Order: sequence, then structure tokens, then C-alpha cells
Amino acid sequence: MLNLGVLISGRGSNLQAIIDACEGGKIPAKVVVVISNDPAAGGLERAKKHNIPTAVFEPNNFKDKNTYELEIVKELKKHDVGLVCLAGYMRIVGPVLLEHYRGRMINIHPSLLPSFSGLHAQKQALDHGVTVTGATVHFVDDGCDTGPIIVQSAVPVKENDTEETLSERILQQEHHIYPIAIEFIAKDKLVIEGRKVKLK
Ligand code: GRF
Repeated sequence: MLNLGVLISGRGSNLQAIIDACEGGKIPAKVVVVISNDPAAGGLERAKKHNIPTAVFEPNNFKDKNTYELEIVKELKKHDVGLVCLAGYMRIVGPVLLEHYRGRMINIHPSLLPSFSGLHAQKQALDHGVTVTGATVHFVDDGCDTGPIIVQSAVPVKENDTEETLSERILQQEHHIYPIAIEFIAKDKLVIEGRKVKLK
């Protein structure tokens, strides 16, 4: 059983998809702690409903990013976390978290990377006029949304899509592919070769 630590900043619908996949026995993993940088994150309530321990660390309460991330690392270690899942965690990961969890930390992004990295990926896709966008789960590296790609799902952009309607369609795919990526890792099926993630 793989112990998951999920980092969030907001409503936590991806967190919910992960919890449901674990509790439904679809993946050999368990969410053992949920950590938020925002005490108002809706995902904290979702965790509590499932009796999952939560922790809140607000970056402003720490003297710098390294000290903040060290506290997160301590919490993850306390719960013996084997895989860190960023799920709507709106902070750039710094060297401390990376040093401890490189190759054991993944993120979900609402576009087909490397297109439209960073904030407001769905709006970027609409503004650019693409007809296909999607969702990506990838390992986290030093860059912003640049790490080796594990799973992607394509989503059509419709003519009268708004940021909201497109985001909603992408979100359904996010909820579908995040548990798949975790399942691969929980079953030890992946190997990273440079930029490529291959099945063993
Ligand atoms: C998702 O679209 C995720 O891809 C992005 O932020 C959003 C978080 O949604 N990074 P939720 O908190 O999982 O509902």
C-alpha cells in the first residue's frame, strides 16, 4: 500500500477523486495526510469527512520558503508518505521539497503540456484558439510544469466554450487520469529515462 500525501490550496476536487479511487479499492494506495497552504481550502473539509489527517502551513508565518517547506517535509515524513500528489497546490515547489521527494512527487495540470504551462491554462488555450487541449499528470522537477509526463488526456475545445465550460470538461479528465498515474506508481510500473516515463 502506497502512502499518499496530497498538497492542496483550494476546493480539492482532484483530492476527492484520489480519495474515492483509494477507498473504492481501485488503486493500492491510501491518502494519509492532506496539507494546505490556505486554511480556507475547501479540500480540508473533504479530508476531514474521510477522517484523513490535515495540516495547514501558511507561508507568511515562516521566515522563508525553505523553512516553510521543511515543515511540510516533516509532516510528510511523520505520516511515512511515499508519494506526494500536488492537487491544485498553487505554489511553486522549491528546492527543499524537491530534494526530499524528487521522483516521488507528481502534479496535475489542466492542459496538454508543454503547451500552456503556469496559471490560467484553460484561458491560455481559449485565447490561443487551439481546438484540442487537455490534462497532464507529470513528475515535478525544478521548472514550472516541466517534469516528465506520465499520463495525458485530450479534450476538445468547443466553439462557444467559456473558461468555465472548458475548465469543467478538462476537470472531468483530470479526475480520470490522476488516479491512473497514481496506480502506475503504486504498482511500481514506471521508470523515468531522461524526459521520458516508460512502462517497466
Ligand atoms: C485543477 O484544474 C488543477 O489541474 C489545477 O488547479 C485545479 C484544482 O482543482 N492545478 P481542485 O482543487 O482539484 O478542484
